[in-house]
Amino acid sequence: MNSAGEEPKTMEISRYVSSIPKSPFYKIVDYVKELGYEDKVLYLNVGLPRFDTPEHILAAASKASLESFTKYTPEAGIMELREAIADKLKKENKIEADPNSEIFVTCGAQAGLYVALKTLLNPGDEVLIPSPFYPPYYAHTILMGAKPVLVPYIMKDGLSLNPDEIEKAITPKSRAIFIHTPNNPIGGVLSRENLKAISEVVLKHNLVVISDEPYEKILFDGAEHTSIGSLPGMEDNTITLNSLSKTYSMTGLRIGYAVANRNFMTNFLKVHHAINICANSVAQKAAVAALNGPHDFLRDWQQEYDANRNRIVRAIDEIPKVSLAVKPIGTFYCFLDIREMGMSSEEAAEFFVREGKVVTTPGSGFGSHGEGFVRISFATSPTIIETAMNNIRGCLGG
Ligand SMILES: Cc1ncc(COP(=O)(O)O)c(C=O)c1O
Repeated sequence: MNSAGEEPKTMEISRYVSSIPKSPFYKIVDYVKELGYEDKVLYLNVGLPRFDTPEHILAAASKASLESFTKYTPEAGIMELREAIADKLKKENKIEADPNSEIFVTCGAQAGLYVALKTLLNPGDEVLIPSPFYPPYYAHTILMGAKPVLVPYIMKDGLSLNPDEIEKAITPKSRAIFIHTPNNPIGGVLSRENLKAISEVVLKHNLVVISDEPYEKILFDGAEHTSIGSLPGMEDNTITLNSLSKTYSMTGLRIGYAVANRNFMTNFLKVHHAINICANSVAQKAAVAALNGPHDFLRDWQQEYDANRNRIVRAIDEIPKVSLAVKPIGTFYCFLDIREMGMSSEEAAEFFVREGKVVTTPGSGFGSHGEGFVRISFATSPTIIETAMNNIRGCLGG
């Protein structure tokens, strides 16, 4: 209502923003509210670890606040954090990056994605997006006035991309391709061999890879993570984005980072500065503690994710009309094939809420190739997973 008590006039909205559809992501939560089931359902739609942020990370954040470390930091982030990131990249990802010029601390990987695309793209450029996809890849591409071109994943005997399909989708306007492994929403991991074959196509056509790797440490069954930026010849064709959100259960602290060559990062700075100036100062101190501190808690977290994953795999095996798109070997998600239920993914998600009191995310929220699936997050407690699986069994029989 305005001051005269009238409905507000409709403001004209950017055509880019208008063309981003409302995600079924939110629609399913609206559906829960509509039924008045907010307190009755089990939430398997939430993509964040249930664990508290470890104490040494919280202590670093408290100390920084109490010391009034609350002013702007250097735009690229405090040097001790960039140095910690450089060490980690070298040790774990086999990527050599100069903390002075090739690493930028971002407000989560999400802001890194936006800033990277804004730095890279012109309107009309085409961006290859393996599909189903994390929805912001699509939204950010549209916001840049660029065109998303979907390349379907192969979800058979694990997750992979067909390099020939990628090559077929390339046109003179193609500029970049998203690579995302371990993968949300599918739970698969792209193999080193597959990434190698993809990198050959990328180099042949001089594309830029935007490699989004926030789940790199959540792996099962001996799966290994490869950063595509570490493969031969890829240094100048890769922007690596990562995040401390999921690994350290600090999603609200909003710390991620972007890594690319100096030429790109000089320009990245212009956009990052225009939007963020810098990442949160207190959270940067917490991030230093996270990267340099003990990591033994990860083993316990990992064990719980693994136990949850095994519970789901066993249960789904016994429940009729549903199966897993691939056996999850990375992230805390699995992608449930619901095609035999004879419903759309939105209908199936609503059915699970109504009949099973379980909230999942309709696969259509991850693009057209996600239709026929729902995503389950198992970053929740073992008891919730157990009950939710029993409820799904209850409403499908078996
Ligand atoms: C694939 C993927 N990339 C990026 C992000 C964003 O992470 P951050 O919290 O670092 O912004 C998420 C969060 O769910 C994600 O799943």
